Amino acid sequence: MPETKDDKKTALEGGKPVRTEPLPLEFPGAHYYDQEEVDAVVRVLKSRSPYRYYGLDHQREAETFEKEFAAFLGVPYAVAVSSGTGALHVALSALGVGPGQEVIIPAYMWVSVIAAVVNHGAIPVLADIDETFGLNPAAVEKQITPRTAGIIVVHMSGAPVDVQEIRKVARAHNIFLLEDCAQCCGGRIGGQPVGTFGDMGIYSFQLNKNMTSGEGGCVVTSDERLYQRAVAAQDLGYARDGKGRLIENDPSLTLWGRGYRMDEMRAAILRVQLRKLPRVIESMHRSKYRIRKALEAFPQVQLRRIVDPAGDTSCFLITTYADAATAREVCQALRAEGIVTYPQGLTNIVMPDWGLHLYSNNTSLLKRASVDAHGFPWNLAENSESHPSYERGTCPTADSLFERSIIIAVPSCLTERDEEEIIRAFEKVLSKVYASTAQVKAG
Ligand SMILES: Cc1ncc(COP(=O)(O)O)c(C=O)c1O
Repeated sequence: MPETKDDKKTALEGGKPVRTEPLPLEFPGAHYYDQEEVDAVVRVLKSRSPYRYYGLDHQREAETFEKEFAAFLGVPYAVAVSSGTGALHVALSALGVGPGQEVIIPAYMWVSVIAAVVNHGAIPVLADIDETFGLNPAAVEKQITPRTAGIIVVHMSGAPVDVQEIRKVARAHNIFLLEDCAQCCGGRIGGQPVGTFGDMGIYSFQLNKNMTSGEGGCVVTSDERLYQRAVAAQDLGYARDGKGRLIENDPSLTLWGRGYRMDEMRAAILRVQLRKLPRVIESMHRSKYRIRKALEAFPQVQLRRIVDPAGDTSCFLITTYADAATAREVCQALRAEGIVTYPQGLTNIVMPDWGLHLYSNNTSLLKRASVDAHGFPWNLAENSESHPSYERGTCPTADSLFERSIIIAVPSCLTERDEEEIIRAFEKVLSKVYASTAQVKAG
């Protein structure tokens, strides 16, 4: 069809919007649910054995999923649990985190990371991020004190962050490194899966994740003791031997259990989802890199620095602008062009509007919310030397990146037409926003 004047006018100027139908919702793994997941659940139901450790006709789905997930990652041990938040708690229990310790966390993460540290009686210490939207190794180094027990690196928004550099810092200071891969399941750096660079890795299988059972999580490690402690922490407080019997005579493997067990139905779903994961990632990767390539025509737009594009799971696209006003202008104009989704989802928003992923949006952190009436863990004598800052301004690079960036979900079911329309909307809006700059340059 020939281009009309209205096609060039942005929707905000009264032109015709590029799209009228909302973009598909994100939920990457869920788009690939079909009869296979149904059969998996029915198999467990028919066995009348939904519990992971025994049953009338026990299918060993959780145990088998753990083996398959560990093999997929190339690690010896995986412990499936009931959520990603549970996985963080289990990992920190396995690592022995407690009062008197500090754990370094990134300015861009998810509230569960803070919660896991605080619930263990330790103090979270923020470190700034860089253009990867992951921890800046130099910023981490600056936050290390004699009380630092470890670092939680978070592979946010689908792309692996620079975990190899962070690992050097952890090794140099002999502290643990825990990788939160909740948003990056299947991500890789140089072919090596995220979650296998640190002492432990955790995953979430909540609805918004690359593979999903609605709720669910996993802890992985190559260290047998950490594995056994994780088994104890997610269950009854005791590790189990090769025959599934509780080990009650080893004090180093005796903790208090949290009852965060995975169940057989979700494990059965996850076994199917794991097989589909490469297809889910391939689809998002194709869409995201097609859009990124088109955006290269606009050098004013800064694209997130991706440590290894081949290993990017690609569930989100982040673009950064010269200032906050431009980011808001572009976002609003793109929304007017139809770059929105259904009300159950969020896409195409400036990052400060994104939620509890930004340290500065976590009011409970700012206010040092407590789990009891005595100010636990902030007021514990063991933590009296720790006085980290949580106010906005603590991580200036993060503050600047957040206010200048837009985040767009890349659903795993985008059609070529969807991709073209997203690109067309960007082209229309950016040509308009940068038209004055172009004129100045031309002049
Ligand atoms: C980075 C990150 N860590 C941890 C979690 C917690 O996972 P869950 O929602 O399964 O408890 C999430 C999930 O939403 C997350 O995005």
